[in-house]
Amino acid sequence: MAFRPACADPKLLKETIRGEWDLNGNINFDLRIQIQSLFFFLILGLDLDCGSYYSDYGANAVIQGKVRESKIDKALRSLYFVLLRPGFFDGSPKFDSLGKDEICSENHINFAIQAAREGIFLLKNDNDTLPLDSHQIKTIAVVWLHANATDVMIGNHAGVPCRITTPIYAFKQHGKVIYENGCADVACKNDSLIFPAVQAASKADATIVGVGLDLSAEAESLDRVDLLLPGYQTQLINQIATSSKGPVTLVIMSAGGVDISFARNHPNITSIIWAGYPGEEGGQGIADVFGAYNPATTKRSINIKLNKFQHCRHINYIDGALEPSCATHNVEFSVEVTNVGKRDGSEVVMIYWNPPSGIVDAHIKQLVAFKKVCIQAGRSTKVNFNLNACKSLGIIDYKGYNHLASGGHNILVGDNILSFPLRITYEISH
Ligand SMILES: *[C@@H]1O[C@H](CO)[C@@H](O)[C@H](O)[C@H]1NC(C)=O
Ligand SMILES: *[C@@H]1O[C@H](CO)[C@@H](O)[C@H](O)[C@H]1NC(C)=O
Ligand SMILES: *[C@@H]1O[C@H](CO)[C@@H](O)[C@H](O)[C@H]1NC(C)=O
Ligand SMILES: *[C@@H]1O[C@H](CO)[C@@H](O)[C@H](O)[C@H]1NC(C)=O
Repeated sequence: MAFRPACADPKLLKETIRGEWDLNGNINFDLRIQIQSLFFFLILGLDLDCGSYYSDYGANAVIQGKVRESKIDKALRSLYFVLLRPGFFDGSPKFDSLGKDEICSENHINFAIQAAREGIFLLKNDNDTLPLDSHQIKTIAVVWLHANATDVMIGNHAGVPCRITTPIYAFKQHGKVIYENGCADVACKNDSLIFPAVQAASKADATIVGVGLDLSAEAESLDRVDLLLPGYQTQLINQIATSSKGPVTLVIMSAGGVDISFARNHPNITSIIWAGYPGEEGGQGIADVFGAYNPATTKRSINIKLNKFQHCRHINYIDGALEPSCATHNVEFSVEVTNVGKRDGSEVVMIYWNPPSGIVDAHIKQLVAFKKVCIQAGRSTKVNFNLNACKSLGIIDYKGYNHLASGGHNILVGDNILSFPLRITYEISH
């Protein structure tokens, strides 16, 4: 059987999306489709490309008899329909009332700060180093190539920012800042900037080391070949950790994962923050984490205990009846989360799943559910999960079919804090 890409599959486009799902709108596709095949796709039911091929070549294709005008009309109808729905052609009060002062209003900037804060994760905080104690910490060494950078925090595929609050600007709210680059760029192929950074760290009351990636190291069409921090970044961190006067906090800016297990186990690196690419107010969001704002954690200084996992049902399936029957089989459990810290905070409870072993090409582990909960200091809360067996525990094969495998599955809470087995068996009916 020949495989078709999704954008050339009439069964998917016509029967499934427009038929079964009853889509009343348009289907678009991404860039870089070969021009020769473009009108083939139009005929199949793709209404718009996100570049300018249709508008550049559509009229000519009709004149040359390659596409019927009725096909273009059909695609246009879908597009106009989507514009009609929110009132695009009849003066929508919702859009007309929006003016210039809606752009970059104080509300929006505060929202950007909130988004940055909430996207930040605290991965380690030994000795309660964060928040920084403002009575003891007067000078802060900020060793961070991107501490004064502008667009790195924005990542890509973003709009035009209102303004950018850099980390260096925001850290000045916490004390006197000594600023060093540490590396000349993310590749950090040269260790010549490490020494001045170490010197700054040996003088300051606290040190913040920013490391990670940017679009020169990870981007569309730019894959990394390993998970390590590039170049001398690891040496930079280790040398600072050995010689800094005060506690060292590591801030990681990246989208893809980086292996920082060496820092996690390092006694002198008391705190680790993952900041992602936090956006235009990223500097403020990060600096707030050093002050009053308590970020979410995935760290297990809180106790998690599972109760009522007897709610997990033993699932039996009738041979061959995969999806229709398993839709009703759910795996229910709850996790009790206690905030053992002294400050109110939030926690993301993450649930992973290991498929049965021995299945060719099956993944090792998959995130199947997560919930963020806010918990007052000293309080506990029960977090309920209800996983649909097919949706959460299914393995998609190379043809796109979802299989619920029989055998021993494993549900994990967080980083193996708790795990419980789950056996799925099929009964053959004759
Ligand atoms: C940060 O960059 C701005 C210009 O983009 C510059 O005026 C300022 O001096 C820099 N700050 C530091 C601490 O280097
Ligand atoms: C390392 O970087 C410094 C400062 O950018 C430069 O002066 C030096 O020549 C570089 N060394 C090498 C070996 O590239
Ligand atoms: C931790 O810092 C102390 C100095 O404060 C240093 O003597 C020690 O070697 C450091 N530990 C490591 C593992 O770097
Ligand atoms: C953390 O606290 C312990 C106990 O007070 C202390 O021995 C240790 O040196 C502290 N670690 C750092 C890096 O400050």
